[in-house]
Amino acid sequence: MARFSDEMLSRAEELVALYPDPRSATIPLCHLAQEQDGYVTNEAMAHIAELVGSTAAEVQGTASFYDMLKLEPVGRYVIGVCTNIACMLRGAYELLEDAEEILDLPVGATTQDRLFTLEEVECIAHCDQAPAAQVNYRYFGPLDRQSFESLVSKLRNGELNEEVPPHGTLIRIRRQAPAVIPMEEIDRNRAGEAE
Ligand code: FES
Repeated sequence: MARFSDEMLSRAEELVALYPDPRSATIPLCHLAQEQDGYVTNEAMAHIAELVGSTAAEVQGTASFYDMLKLEPVGRYVIGVCTNIACMLRGAYELLEDAEEILDLPVGATTQDRLFTLEEVECIAHCDQAPAAQVNYRYFGPLDRQSFESLVSKLRNGELNEEVPPHGTLIRIRRQAPAVIPMEEIDRNRAGEAE
């Protein structure tokens, strides 16, 4: 895997067209690659570089800076248990230990069936529901051993498919791009800048 598929390529081109400088689309394109494959593959980084006019190394340099962008395979569900202060005071470390036991997985690892990756994360701004966790950046809490076990079981049997899409899908509503700015106008602007 994987350069962009035809469908993703057309979305990638729409994204690039949104920015006066194509390189500004680097991060959105990394998210698009992650939506396609669950993580940002080396091939995708090379493809992104072609699309935005940079190098694969530059794309990797950008992508590796952000925790949300994964450069190695992760599970369909990336579970982040917050252990920051509000959650810690309400049992986050016990919850993290429970999570390791329930998933039979140390923090930072992925189950062999590639269903779950477990992470320890800093505050996810869900403090009023401490101890909190996120699954593919969807929020859950307050959690204890029982509710965490129930969450894992619902994820496993597909009960939360609507609420929690596979890792990489941030939104399901597509921006209509580049509906607001016609391509010709963008091309004209770019040509003007180049002069
Ligand atoms: S401290 Fe855990 S969500 Fe804020």
